[in-house]
Amino acid sequence: MTTKHFAPVIFILVFSFASGCSRFPGKPSEADKWIAPSEVLNFDQLYGENCAGCHGSAGRFGAGRSMNDPFFLHLIDLDNLRRVIREGVPSTSMPAFAQKFGGQLTDSQVDFLADQIKSQWGNPEGFNPVPQPAYREQDAVGDSQRGAVAYNSYCSECHGAAGRGGEKAGSIVDPDFLKLVSDQSLRTTVIVGRRYIGKTDCRATTNGQPISAQEVSDLVAWLVSQRPPALGSESALSSSQSAITP
Ligand code: HEC
Ligand code: HEC
Repeated sequence: MTTKHFAPVIFILVFSFASGCSRFPGKPSEADKWIAPSEVLNFDQLYGENCAGCHGSAGRFGAGRSMNDPFFLHLIDLDNLRRVIREGVPSTSMPAFAQKFGGQLTDSQVDFLADQIKSQWGNPEGFNPVPQPAYREQDAVGDSQRGAVAYNSYCSECHGAAGRGGEKAGSIVDPDFLKLVSDQSLRTTVIVGRRYIGKTDCRATTNGQPISAQEVSDLVAWLVSQRPPALGSESALSSSQSAITP
């Protein structure tokens, strides 16, 4: 073989060295460097992988409550937001995310998620002058009979007689629905509504009066009083016993 035959080979070698190592396909750039899951502090990734499936991508239109709702984020303070993400909501499909509670996220990731949800989707200045009931029930303990009265003045126009559904909105006393939601979730819904699905909040009522903190607790007590007792709970046992022994 003469050097003449090597010429194309040499050309290719020289050419590829001259073009530099950084052009090798597949060489990872800074951005695709592998990061251990526990080190990820990227909001889109953390929210997308852990929350979007239920609460909607970009925080909207999920089966669960929209996180992209400034009035909700005004209601829930940072401590409660972190706690719910860390510990989840027992007996509902909201999982616990902190490693201590069986989840996958470190405490710093939970804190980071909560901070970002607040800062990206909240509007801390927007609601300051508006007094409103607190996130969790505090002094205003609910009474279901007063709740039934409040229901008739604030809710029946849409949800129909006794909450069983009307022309503008469905039933809110359906046993399957009530078994799936926590008391807190009902309370949150009565206060902030459900953004993006046409559910109004406590400020925008059909009779023009905002719903007071006491009335919010009463309405929740009224809804909870219609939840069927959980299987195996004491009230379930006593009601089935009274069914056999009249
Ligand atoms: C498998 C579905 C699912 C996933 C995944 C999920 N959630 Fe939830 N989340 C729910 C449900 C259902 C509720 C309502 C539970 C109840 O009845 O209180 C809820 C409730 C919440 C609440 C309280 C709302 C209220 O009414 O006060 C917050 C805050 C929340 N989720 C944030 C998150 C965040 C942040 C993530 C991701 C780290 C996440 N969730 C992942 C289903 C889910
Ligand atoms: C202007 C009409 C309107 C009024 C008034 C109204 N709601 Fe609703 N509500 C809706 C709509 C729309 C939905 C979305 C689901 C549907 O279509 O049933 C909804 C949903 C709900 C839900 C279920 C939310 C979920 O997580 O799926 C609850 C609980 C509820 N309302 C309670 C109340 C209570 C309590 C009142 C009175 C304080 C009230 N609503 C007043 C329109 C209304």
